[in-house]
Amino acid sequence: MVQRIPQQVIDEVREKTNIVEVIGQYVQLKKSGKNYLGLCPFHEEKTPSFSVAEDKQIFHCFGCGKGGNVYTFLQELEGISFPEAVKKIADMEQIPLGIEISSEPVNQTSTGQQQLIALHERTRDLYHHLLMNTKVGEAALAYLHERGLSDELISEFKIGFAPSQRDFLVQVAQKDKVTADLMERSGLFIRREDGRFSDRFYQRVMFPLNDFRGKPIGFSGRLLKTSDFPGDDQPKYLNSPETELFNKRQVLFNFDKARNEIRKQGEAILFEGFMDVLAAWQADIKIGLASMGTSLTEQQIAAIERVTGQVVIAYDGDDPGQAATDRALSVLAAHSRLSLATVTVPEKLDPDEYLRKYGVTELQNLLQHGRQTPFAFKMYYRKKGLNLENEADRLNYLEVVMQDLAKVQSPVEQDLYLGQLANEFQLTRESLKQQLQMIRQTLRSERRQQQRPVSQAPLQSVKKALTKEEKAEQMLLYRSMNEASIREQLVQTDFQFIHDQYQELLLYLDSYMMVHGNFVLADFLNYLKENEMKQLAIDISMISMSEDSNEREIYDLMRVISQSGIAEEIKQRQKEQLEARKNGNQQRELELTVQIIELTKRLKQA
Ligand code: CTP
Ligand code: MN
Repeated sequence: MVQRIPQQVIDEVREKTNIVEVIGQYVQLKKSGKNYLGLCPFHEEKTPSFSVAEDKQIFHCFGCGKGGNVYTFLQELEGISFPEAVKKIADMEQIPLGIEISSEPVNQTSTGQQQLIALHERTRDLYHHLLMNTKVGEAALAYLHERGLSDELISEFKIGFAPSQRDFLVQVAQKDKVTADLMERSGLFIRREDGRFSDRFYQRVMFPLNDFRGKPIGFSGRLLKTSDFPGDDQPKYLNSPETELFNKRQVLFNFDKARNEIRKQGEAILFEGFMDVLAAWQADIKIGLASMGTSLTEQQIAAIERVTGQVVIAYDGDDPGQAATDRALSVLAAHSRLSLATVTVPEKLDPDEYLRKYGVTELQNLLQHGRQTPFAFKMYYRKKGLNLENEADRLNYLEVVMQDLAKVQSPVEQDLYLGQLANEFQLTRESLKQQLQMIRQTLRSERRQQQRPVSQAPLQSVKKALTKEEKAEQMLLYRSMNEASIREQLVQTDFQFIHDQYQELLLYLDSYMMVHGNFVLADFLNYLKENEMKQLAIDISMISMSEDSNEREIYDLMRVISQSGIAEEIKQRQKEQLEARKNGNQQRELELTVQIIELTKRLKQA
């Protein structure tokens, strides 16, 4: 049952909200003039063209053209309905709505996805229940406790247990009348040769994997070895396969829960495994993220960059972990402007093992004070497998490390390490400096050769140039939004816009003003139902014009439009006139001629 939210409530919730704060939870915003700028969450971009206007309470992307108010933002970003968006904001602001909002599927394609998500939610809750409350889950719960996970954390992350029985979930799904099609698409089942389903996950501790809104879209199951079930031929971790919901390359474990804290603290910590994220959480470090056993993808990096400017890499202390750190540094440097640091866990431990061995305080200390700059990490990492007593190895090492040093941006940092290297290898600072300069020169000329013509700025590629008339129309509407007298002037005279959409927008504006009395763009956008109209209103509100209009300006703008309107009409009549002449319709031809003369006179007067 869907209940309508009263307009008054919609307005009230929006008024109490600051769009900058809401969007700031999803996008890292920087103040720029009177607006805020960030990387657009609706399209991939490297330079910010996503703007949030605090005074107008709207957002607008100059790159992809998306725009709207705080409700539109949530609707678009999270794929939810308008009432759901209102509800979500009301929750954030702790304004009671007093009514139930049912989530309605937004459109056909999302219906399928919502069914899949519902199936995952049901499965997650079931597994969690088994773990927490049943005999079947006892061993798994004991295992998690032994690993140091508290009940609170287990509930927060809705960790569960999939029993050893191979048709547990199959039976539940069949009882729930889940269609075979949905079962197939969910990835939660395996289809056997005889066409029957069996559970993909069994005898595993189940970790739900969520999308960025916190909806479960897959699982990672860790094998639980027991005396009855050694499972020696089974992989330690089993993830959901790729489905229409689950794309391993997009998932960042804990991003949904950590996002706000990351934004607040200004940094994120990347771990190799999600058990490390959970260990950190136990140590009250709630900004941990992990990819799902794969190296970082550009999508993941982009998501991180939207909420923070700084990342600490705290992968496992063993050799593969250190190799992964080196790779992550390169990928992050190539695809982001994030400032980076690394932490090397001693004794080749992973952060989770380190916590269990040394306790909460030591893990906190390590993550806080054990940080290195990327170059310091490289200096140490490049020594692996080399024997620096050996002349050839020494030269080799210096060569590689100097290449790394040349890429360090900060001159202070460069100088620091130059000194260290000079010391360590008993070389003069001067000679190293010279070498560095040579490398930098080569790098620069290489870069110059690689540079291709810069691709067109998104601003130009999206916004088509407006005609003089259309510009005038938009400017008049801009004035009408901000000055009631201009709106009245346009509505009350027989002024006509050339383009229907502007005429329509003026009428909407007029009826909106009758209800509301004063103009608030963010509210007006709610009032406009069609996306095209909303977009138009936003585009117009983004025009930069002087503070106040003056009579001359309005007169000129109206003239541009009325002249062009007449000119268009004359052209049209001339065409008809020609037609009439061809058909020998003298009566019609005469009529049209009179009209053309009349119009031409008006054009001159206008
Ligand atoms: N992984 C995987 N498949 C495996 C092993 C690992 O997908 N067979 C992924 C998992 O996402 C895991 C990450 O790689 O979180 C790191 O692996 P590992 O270091 O082995 O995990 P740990 O966190 O050390 O797991 P545990 O402590 O439970 O042994
Ligand atoms: Mn581990």
